[in-house]
Amino acid sequence: MVKIAILGFGVVGSGTAEVLTENKKIIEERLGCEYSIKYILDLRDFPDSPFAELVTHDFNDILNDDEVTVVAEMMGGSHPAYDFSKACLEAGKHVITSNKEVVSNFGVELCSIAAAHGVRYLFEASVGGGIPVIRPMINDLASNKITKICGILNGTTNYILTKMRDEGASFADALAEAQKLGYAEANPSADVDGIDAARKIVILAALASGKLISPKSIYTEGITAISLLDTKIAEAIGCSIKLIGQARITADGLCALVSPCMVPKSNPLSRIDDVFNGILIDANMVGEVMFYGPGAGKLPTASAVVADIIDVIAHRDAEQKVIAWEEAKDCDLADFSEFSCKRVFITSAKLELPCVKQFVTLDGAFAYLTDEMTETEVEKIKTSNADAILSVFRVI
Ligand code: HSE
Repeated sequence: MVKIAILGFGVVGSGTAEVLTENKKIIEERLGCEYSIKYILDLRDFPDSPFAELVTHDFNDILNDDEVTVVAEMMGGSHPAYDFSKACLEAGKHVITSNKEVVSNFGVELCSIAAAHGVRYLFEASVGGGIPVIRPMINDLASNKITKICGILNGTTNYILTKMRDEGASFADALAEAQKLGYAEANPSADVDGIDAARKIVILAALASGKLISPKSIYTEGITAISLLDTKIAEAIGCSIKLIGQARITADGLCALVSPCMVPKSNPLSRIDDVFNGILIDANMVGEVMFYGPGAGKLPTASAVVADIIDVIAHRDAEQKVIAWEEAKDCDLADFSEFSCKRVFITSAKLELPCVKQFVTLDGAFAYLTDEMTETEVEKIKTSNADAILSVFRVI
């Protein structure tokens, strides 16, 4: 009998208990072994929950119980989630997490501690909610060199942008609804300012390159400045505005960023709406593959957590597979000022811009779709036309 502990009984933690209970019979049949949840750690009590008896407020109950071999951390935030995860790994317990903040900031250390103690640190639920993407990247794309990742990585912002575009909802109303549905982070600034997507893109980039970039060091822009005019212009030039996390792995090095982008309707990401996420991966043997599904929410995210629990239980007697990452050094990184892509300039006056491919005017504003230009070139144009430029979008 495998004994499991759950750290954090919020949206995903309670979903994980639900999935483990609801699908217990089928999971145990597949595993050929039984399991039970022994503890649920939370500061709160849940007297009305069927799991009320399992709640403890003392982490040491879990840490010091040798019967508990699998710990699922869904507390959110860096501390004490990182500290508890580290202690469990050092005590020889497998740790599973949905916590992208911890994985993106401490992944190198925690994977290395896991390897040193012959256990696993798994984090399928940390990117893309219920979408299987991390295990497929590790296993099914193992024969490939991944050169580019581009995705809608945050369910809350995609939900907000969809409601604003399709229903004319206000930003605040759409965000409140996303919070009610359990999609948003405890502090939704992490969603709307692009921080959550930054954490996720550095995790995916690390899976592709072996180098983990600090999420705080990448260019990160959220969706708070997007106006109705931007949305209308996007439609007029055949695009949708999406918050995109992207990474490129080239001979010049690794580059990752998060920003709202114009996504042409011909790109499948333009049709991914509501809470759904989509991730396009360019790999040198398979070509382009896409992962799609619910990017946030209780049961989808719990489904990914339980997939990791099943994985560690199924392979508990095998030699443990190791994820070996290094912290990215400056010499691993490409120069962001040389990042090049097509752009859309939205302006309040007519301008002479280089390499214009498409021009529209709408609601008294002007929009220019240009050929590829670097960040440095865009900055120069912005500086010399500061009074007229309303916004500039990258195009994917
Ligand atoms: N707040 C996150 C999102 C939850 O909206 O995508 C899933 O990671």
